[in-house]
Amino acid sequence: MGRAAILVARAVFPQTIERLRRHFEVEDNAADQAWSPAELSARLHGKAGLFATAGERIDAALLDANPQLRAVANMAVGYNNVDLPACTARGVLVTNTPDVLTETTADFGFALMMAAARRLAESERFLRRGEWSRWSYDMYTGSDVHGATLAILGMGRIGQAIARRGALGFGMRVIYHNRSRLAPGQEEALGARWVDKATLLAEADHLVLVLPYSAASHHAIGAAELASMKPTATLTNIARGGIVDDAALAAALRERRIAAAGLDVFEGEPQVHPDLLAVPNVVLTPHIGSATVATRRAMAELAATNLIAALGGATPPNLLNPEALGHAAR
Ligand code: GLV
Repeated sequence: MGRAAILVARAVFPQTIERLRRHFEVEDNAADQAWSPAELSARLHGKAGLFATAGERIDAALLDANPQLRAVANMAVGYNNVDLPACTARGVLVTNTPDVLTETTADFGFALMMAAARRLAESERFLRRGEWSRWSYDMYTGSDVHGATLAILGMGRIGQAIARRGALGFGMRVIYHNRSRLAPGQEEALGARWVDKATLLAEADHLVLVLPYSAASHHAIGAAELASMKPTATLTNIARGGIVDDAALAAALRERRIAAAGLDVFEGEPQVHPDLLAVPNVVLTPHIGSATVATRRAMAELAATNLIAALGGATPPNLLNPEALGHAAR
């Protein structure tokens, strides 16, 4: 039997491609061209594996057009781009890249929150415009991070890493809301207290979103939720676009119903809602939460490890749908 063929959907480290070539026939995308869903599907023909990023949609149509596909390795921790039940039903193994990005993404969430609270981007733009001519007592005054209430929506690995930073490093009072509550020992170790969502929103000085995107979390933060926050509060989203209603957030920022926001993810990214671009009190970054060289390397290597295991008949370390193993090999 010849070597399995795989498709790598986006450009990735050459070392990772070299490693994959030692195991597979590889079609890569070194030029990093934007493939339409139809082109992705056509290129996938004959391939047993797909090395994907969070940007490719892996749905029933793609799977039905490619019944030979056996594994999808997503180079991201989030996998809302993958229709997991559709993959499971067809015996396609799906993996993600958790753990290796936890601390890096938590660092970034904290940076974005601090930038929003202390008006970093807004004041830098002012300086660059050449408008800084004198000191004044209330110039770009923001809100404190240390000692404030850090409110975390979603309390997985990244949420917990942010809680640790807040409680241990900045003396923050940490509250969180999540479907599943942590064990009492974990809460104690993190110095975090579970509250209902209404309390979380009402008491937040700095609200950070770190929950996965799903139909259930679509617009978890909309006009009503924003209206229940303090006018001095900040909102940071490092999770996924669509969790926040971007138009409602832009209106709340414009009308100063909350003080500021830090956003790394957007509805319909890489498009950004024009109203967000028009308000000053928001820091906008292009989905770079996990973007350090070391972490992106680790993510690429982990995705490769997962694909090599999945197509080699072993159980991949980050298998999301072990039920798929039960399906007859196709
Ligand atoms: C990035 O957004 C990821 O899910 O890893």
